[in-house]
Amino acid sequence: MDDRDLVKLANDARKNAYAPYSKFPVGAALLCADGTVVTGVNVENAVNGLSLCAERVALFKAISEGKHDFVKIAVSCNSDHCRPCGACRQVLYEHAPKLEILMGNPHGEFVRTTIAELLPDAFTLKT
Ligand code: THU
Repeated sequence: MDDRDLVKLANDARKNAYAPYSKFPVGAALLCADGTVVTGVNVENAVNGLSLCAERVALFKAISEGKHDFVKIAVSCNSDHCRPCGACRQVLYEHAPKLEILMGNPHGEFVRTTIAELLPDAFTLKT
């Protein structure tokens, strides 16, 4: 699974997004240490605050399937390189403090970063 393939999976997943309120569909593809990929999309709700971002859907799906080691996540939206929101950064950091992140666009191009770069000096209960 190379980086371009992972971004493509995020782009492909985006068609399943449920984003009738924001009209901002997002797709994510999470590469697990066992080589499998778990995708996610944003799922919104009429009740404010109940929506979930694509990154967290992918991560929670993976954890619920018994996966605990994560290498990389690709995220993609319809416009410029998609940046994970602050809430997702915190959640991703807890489960994968060394996670690599590919911020993709619809053309399959991406900017490479890491969760440590996006969330420096992150909060954790570990001392
Ligand atoms: N969203 C994501 O799914 N991931 C991101 O990285 C940024 C934002 C979603 C949340 C909401 O459904 C929509 O995009 C607009 O904020």
